[in-house]
Amino acid sequence: MNINVSKTPEELAGQFADQLMKIIETHSGEKFHLAISGGKTPDLLFSVLAEKYVHSELWNKVHFWWVDERMVAPDHPESNFRIAHKLLFSQISIPEENIHRIKGENDPETEANSYSAQIQEQVPLQENWPVFDLILLGMGDDGHTASIFPDQMELLHSDSICAVATHPQSGQKRVTLTGKVINRAKQLVFLVTGESKIERVSEIFHKTKEARNLPAFYIAPLTTTAEWHLDEDAAKKIS
Ligand code: 6PG
Repeated sequence: MNINVSKTPEELAGQFADQLMKIIETHSGEKFHLAISGGKTPDLLFSVLAEKYVHSELWNKVHFWWVDERMVAPDHPESNFRIAHKLLFSQISIPEENIHRIKGENDPETEANSYSAQIQEQVPLQENWPVFDLILLGMGDDGHTASIFPDQMELLHSDSICAVATHPQSGQKRVTLTGKVINRAKQLVFLVTGESKIERVSEIFHKTKEARNLPAFYIAPLTTTAEWHLDEDAAKKIS
């Protein structure tokens, strides 16, 4: 684990925004396949990107995919697409075909299959698995990541590219990338902030026995090292 600790979520978002754009700029390929997560943490990053890089030409090469999506309409308050569109896509100039949203309004199983097929067709494959250039993850205070929850750890080992998950409390259906796809990304970045993550970050960092029940503990990329970008609050219990 590479750990970067920023004083505040705002500082973290500012620093990572610059790092991400530098990665995209130096990427030699014509397309940069980036998978983004939902939740609140990326919102700050989206706002910083929309502000600092509003006129960047680099958006033409970025293909946005989703790590997971809540199976709700795209204008639903809980839609990951909705907030990314509001904060970022509506502010920048990016070709519509570069935005590959998971269609939350569809039947979950049908959409999981359809999204898997789109990824298979458009994201470069290695050993028949899609390899994203960068996957951006968050972590819930229960240690879930993507929509792989502690009671659905089998999604870490699924042979599908996408799968249907169920939120353990709300029962809400999600479509999520599976662990094998996530662990094949060229670059894997966690953005984790806030005191509610202190215990999970500490368990994962110290590899405690509790960590073994946390999906985020099993995100260990095959060809790179996961980068954890934390704020001081989330990093309180790690040296
Ligand atoms: C989602 C996310 C999820 C998120 C974590 C952390 O759709 O909710 O993909 O995995 O990354 O729940 O969420 P916060 O950033 O809001 O803490």
